[in-house]
Amino acid sequence: MNMEPAQVNFGQQYMGTPCAQLVAPVLPEAEILKIEAAEVHNYSFPTIPIFQGPAPAVSALDFCNVTVSLRHSGADDTVYVNVWLPLRDWNGRYQAIGGGGLAAGFGDLLLGGQVAHGYAASSTDGGLTLDNTIDPMSGLWALKEDGTPNDVLHLNLAWRSIHDMAVVSKDVIKQFYGSDPSYSYWQGCSQGGRQGYAAAAKYPHDFDGILATAPAIDITEFVPADYWPPVVLRNAGIPPSCIFEEYQKSIIAECDPLDGVTDGLISTHESLESCKFDPDTLVGKTISCGEGCQELDPVIGWKKVPCKKTSDLTLTSAHADIIREILRGPHTADGKQLWYGLAPGADFDVTASVILTENDTREVVPFMVAENFLKYLALQDPEYDMTKMTHEDYVKAHELSITRLGPLWGNQELDLTGFKQSGGKLLTWFGLADQYITPFGMMRYREGIQTKFGGADAVDEWYRLFFAPGAGHCFGGHGPNPVDPLGALVSWVEEGKAPDVLPAARTTEAGVEITRDLCRFPKKLTYTNGDVNEAASFTCQ
Ligand SMILES: *[C@@H]1O[C@H](CO)[C@@H](O)[C@H](O)[C@H]1NC(C)=O
Ligand SMILES: *[C@@H]1O[C@H](CO)[C@@H](O)[C@H](O)[C@H]1NC(C)=O
Ligand SMILES: *[C@@H]1O[C@H](CO)[C@@H](O)[C@H](O)[C@H]1NC(C)=O
Repeated sequence: MNMEPAQVNFGQQYMGTPCAQLVAPVLPEAEILKIEAAEVHNYSFPTIPIFQGPAPAVSALDFCNVTVSLRHSGADDTVYVNVWLPLRDWNGRYQAIGGGGLAAGFGDLLLGGQVAHGYAASSTDGGLTLDNTIDPMSGLWALKEDGTPNDVLHLNLAWRSIHDMAVVSKDVIKQFYGSDPSYSYWQGCSQGGRQGYAAAAKYPHDFDGILATAPAIDITEFVPADYWPPVVLRNAGIPPSCIFEEYQKSIIAECDPLDGVTDGLISTHESLESCKFDPDTLVGKTISCGEGCQELDPVIGWKKVPCKKTSDLTLTSAHADIIREILRGPHTADGKQLWYGLAPGADFDVTASVILTENDTREVVPFMVAENFLKYLALQDPEYDMTKMTHEDYVKAHELSITRLGPLWGNQELDLTGFKQSGGKLLTWFGLADQYITPFGMMRYREGIQTKFGGADAVDEWYRLFFAPGAGHCFGGHGPNPVDPLGALVSWVEEGKAPDVLPAARTTEAGVEITRDLCRFPKKLTYTNGDVNEAASFTCQ
């Protein structure tokens, strides 16, 4: 780290072209509309919560801020690529940062944290902001004005914008520093994780290392499935949210010991699979019920907060039926399973979020990405009244998602043959209590890869998967999160030190430090002896 006091006049530190003189990169099959490049000094930004976890606060950053806009040949899109090039202490590496939800990237939000670590970092909107006029999370980009699907933007998000960003970024890196990056990385979670797999499949030479956390593979199935709980709740009668907290606690308590130790965590993929919780066991139990209310937050908008009063509530068989349906997941009337349900132990609160309104009625607050995905991508009907969706309507929407979107978005597009041959490294960690994307889909995909490429050990040469007990989607949850997965990937790529375990940690609200060394799939965390909060008390078997 450079500990010298900040200087006002930096001058050019590198052998390349000064920031303000960078020229438009060359991109086959696209026209560069504009390049803007200017030094930014002493940049700071507070930490803010986003869908993928808190974006870190940054301060005193000095970088060359490059914004390139481009249009694909024969298309009417406008794609932005933002590249931030540290003015000093560049670590020689390039890092592309992915998006989340229905966004290809988060613009400037996640770049600062990586620039602070010396990376030249980039993100792209993939054209999904419609030239900075809409929030891509709205899904509005998915349909053209005439109501037909915007195939150009679908393709951009599916994979094309990944390569645009890599080519543009590497070009300006070479111009500015006078040399190519020594290594190139992808980092993303959720949609950004899926983009990482798409990068590996479609552009196996763009990145030496890919950190793809909780990837949104199986997107045509799990996203509709995230809307199953609202459909169940609205059709069954909306219960107070406290029933979900009670059920989550009971599910964890019952299934935690299945892995051989009672430590508050369902620790192995096998104990998750064998967890068969019967919701009827809680019928008749009286609980102290605190509900969720909504409050307007100046930064993040409406957010859920605990309501002021609590009351007693006795759990009923109607409540148990709701829980059973959510855990079971979407299915047809005659019982055909469409996708997995909520993973046992995962938080109900994002896909089955319920609030008490001012007038004492209850409302479901659906996961907006799932709602917008169904409306604009699957049903292709902005007028569709999602609040009226019946089970039968749901099944149709789920099937439309697969038939309409499968050809572009399906897992068949995520063939890793080329990436294996390229010598690249793919690292994924996934929370076993992921509340948005089921870990069962991840297991199924990985097992398919193992079958195709000669078994777990052969695949581990270039692709490693670590499940994190109790961890939520991308971050958080009640279990430890990996401490430095990017660092593990960098050591693997640059020094050939393949991560055998992934160290993870969490400090509970009570101040207890819980650590685990996460095992690579299909190995399982196995308790040997000692303090259940310590990684050293477990081995991988
Ligand atoms: C950098 O910004 C901080 C506020 O974020 C300010 O206190 C400091 O004086 C600035 N430093 C320079 C050299 O301008
Ligand atoms: C980077 O440049 C773009 C385009 O000129 C501008 O909109 C953006 O605000 C700049 N970012 C920073 C942090 O200065
Ligand atoms: C109750 O309040 C919500 C807003 O908090 C409103 O949308 C709804 O229409 C109200 N319902 C009744 C029956 O007044």
